[in-house]
Amino acid sequence: MNDNATPTADARAAVDALATTGACVLPSGTFSRILDATAEDWTRFGRNWEDLLLDEYMADGGRYRYRRYGQYDLDPQGSLTLLPHEPYRQESRINRLNGGVDRVFEPLTDHFTHDPLLTRILVRLGRIFSAVDGTDRWNIKLHPYRIVAGREVGQPAPEGRHQDGVTFITTLLINRVNVTGGESSAFTPEGDELVRGTLSAPGDLFLGDDRTIFHDVTPIHPVDPQEAAHRDVLVIAYTAR
Ligand SMILES: [Fe+2]
Repeated sequence: MNDNATPTADARAAVDALATTGACVLPSGTFSRILDATAEDWTRFGRNWEDLLLDEYMADGGRYRYRRYGQYDLDPQGSLTLLPHEPYRQESRINRLNGGVDRVFEPLTDHFTHDPLLTRILVRLGRIFSAVDGTDRWNIKLHPYRIVAGREVGQPAPEGRHQDGVTFITTLLINRVNVTGGESSAFTPEGDELVRGTLSAPGDLFLGDDRTIFHDVTPIHPVDPQEAAHRDVLVIAYTAR
């Protein structure tokens, strides 16, 4: 396992893309090399998405999102500390749909926080972001989401094109089952498109500098309306401390 702090060529390419464009999509093969992750790692980690709970705070009345929530501190030595569980809050100027209220979600499970792949994801993404702007201490907020599509349209980004009020934002695809749509995109504040792509394989990753770009995801629909359909992602938000 590559656990020294020297960035690999794959990690350096992500740093360059973030520093120049402000956003990029890493295919699963590239991100898996950065993580030393195997197909078995993604399958095992993905089982945690069977254990999410309905988000009852959707101001659009939607019942299509299942989730948990937790946060970590990542220190300059690369040590991760799971922080005490707290309500999640975004201000309304950041999240016009769901901001302005404390949202109390169920915490991450022990099974989730103890998965060895999670540590590698958080530490190695932290190194990439530190290499972009020199920050070496991060607050990391984790949002495992399942968006279901059926009679109701599944909205991965119900607030529309937005920023999250953090430093770097990522969406890691965990699984897509019987789903079409869910295309990710990133834009300059003036509306020029920077990146567009559909995360499709477990380990495909969208990364963006949330200070300089806006991002969006299109709705999802079932391919076969008779069958269950869902898109599982891990949204990870890094904020400089
Ligand atoms: Fe977002």
